[in-house]
Order: sequence, then C-alpha cells, then structure tokens
Amino acid sequence: MNYFIVKLLNLNSNNLTIRQFNQSSNTTILTILTMYNKITFLFVVLFSVFMLTSCGDKKEKTKEFTEDNLGFIDASLTEDEGLLGEKPEYSSTQPGSNEIEDRAFQDAPPMIPHTVDGFFPITKDNNMCNTCHMPEAAEAVGAVPMPVSHFQNWRPDVVEEDGLYKVENNEDFHNETLESLNNAYFSCSQCHVPLSNVEIHIENLFTPEFKDELDKKKSTLGESIGDGI
Ligand code: HEC
Ligand code: HEC
Repeated sequence: MNYFIVKLLNLNSNNLTIRQFNQSSNTTILTILTMYNKITFLFVVLFSVFMLTSCGDKKEKTKEFTEDNLGFIDASLTEDEGLLGEKPEYSSTQPGSNEIEDRAFQDAPPMIPHTVDGFFPITKDNNMCNTCHMPEAAEAVGAVPMPVSHFQNWRPDVVEEDGLYKVENNEDFHNETLESLNNAYFSCSQCHVPLSNVEIHIENLFTPEFKDELDKKKSTLGESIGDGI
C-alpha cells in the first residue's frame, strides 16, 4: 500500500519527492507542498483509507477450506468414524450365487457382487481372484472370465538414450496382446470394489449411456480401445 501511495505522488506532483514525504514533521511537508499538491495529498489519503477499508472487507468474505471441511460429508476425510450414518453391509453370499450388476457406465470396472472374505490381502504370491477369474479356470467354477483388456498392453515401448527414456515411434497406437495377465492389472481391488448396501444421502444426477444394451453387463474395452484413434 505504501508503495502504491509513493507511486501516485510521484506521478501527480513534480516537486514532492519521496524524501520530502518521509520528513518527520507534518508542517514542514505542508509548507513545501504547493496548492496543487495539497489537493493531490488529500486525494491520496482519502483513496488509501478507501482501499484499506475495502481490502479489510474482502478478507472477511474469503472462505477458507481445510482438509476437515473439504468433501460432501461433514466429517473428517482421514477417519471412517462419522463418515456414514450406518456401517456398510458387504455381500456375504458365496461366488456363484449372485446376479451380474449393471456397470456404472460404459466399460466401468464391475463391482464384486460376492463375498470377499478371506480373499484379501492380494499379495505377490497369493491372488485368490485369479484362481476363479483366469479365463482357463472361470468356466469350471462358473465365474466371469477376466476380459481381453487385462491381457493387453497399451503402454508403448520406451528406449533409453543418454539416461533419458523416450518413445521410439510415438505415431503408432500401441496395442499388444500378451500371453499372460498384464501385471498392471494384478491388484484387482485397485479397480474392483465389493458391492455394499448403504444409503448415501447425496443426489446422483449422472445417467449412464451405453453404446449397446448388452454393454450394461459386459466388458468391451479390449475390442473398442482403439475406437476413434
Ligand atoms: C471361488 C471363485 C471366486 C473367487 C475366489 C473370486 N470370484 Fe469374483 N466371481 C466369481 C463368480 C462365480 C462370479 C459371478 C457372480 C456370482 O455368482 O457371484 C464372480 C463375479 C465377479 C465380478 C463381477 C463380474 C461382472 O461381470 O459383473 C467381479 C468384478 C469379480 N468377481 C471380482 C473378483 C475379485 C476382485 C476377486 C478377488 C478379490 C474375486 N472376484 C474372487 C467367482 C470368484
Ligand atoms: C486398472 C484397473 C483394473 C484392474 C487392476 C483390474 N480390472 Fe478388471 N476390469 C477393469 C475394467 C475397466 C473393466 C471393464 C472394461 C474392460 O476392461 O473390458 C474390467 C472388467 C473385469 C471383469 C468383467 C469381464 C466381463 O466380461 O464383463 C472381470 C471379471 C474382471 N475385470 C476381473 C478382474 C480381476 C480378477 C482382476 C485382478 C486380477 C482385475 N479385474 C483387475 C479394470 C481393472
């Protein structure tokens, strides 16, 4: 603000310098000032009072958001306590006895409709999900086989040059079919979550649109990933 006043004085008066403005006695300043400068001085004082009061108002109006009041629910984001009105009830039915749920939108990862008791944690050496969902095992247990997409790699090959990694041919759309599961898909629960019965009081206005009625219950990403590219 002081910088602003000094700037204004410099602009409007020829004989009022910063040195004069800084002099300790008001009377000295006033005698040096010409009539023209007195008016300018008055204007600057009034203007700075106006600026100071309007700045103060602005500060009061700014609403601050902290981690505690971010989000839709009036509760801490880092704790489960108080987040939901009731404890979520997860499916307790065994795999093989559930309906296939509608996807949230075209090619959304489907939710897990059966119990997941004893299936977690997924570790490098133990992935229960694979025992039923690998395509070669799925039919025998009546499970939905993992889709083609989980056996594809869309990441382009990178080559190292002087310690930097770059894509050799950035023009090509990379879609490689793998012989085994793409390890980027190994941690199933990263994308697939168990279905739970819980009431959330937030209105959802989203209406999904499916390319085909059948896509509500079926994955198509493996075949359609290149669409429009
Ligand atoms: C004992 C075999 C078995 C195991 C283990 C298993 N599932 Fe399933 N899963 C099934 C069957 C069978 C279905 C078909 C729905 C049903 O009847 O439960 C299914 C359905 C699903 C679906 C819904 C598919 C769709 O098209 O809507 C998902 C997603 C899923 N399972 C993910 C998982 C994940 C993730 C794990 C590991 C945490 C897992 N499953 C472990 C047998 C299994
Ligand atoms: C990176 C996210 C991601 C991971 C990790 C992942 N999935 Fe999926 N999954 C999806 C998406 C997205 C779809 C639906 C679109 C598609 O890929 O075809 C899907 C579809 C499925 C389906 C439905 C197939 C159908 O024909 O409708 C099954 C079953 C499934 N996944 C099982 C698994 C299992 C088991 C694992 C762990 C080994 C796993 N997924 C890991 C994202 C993921």
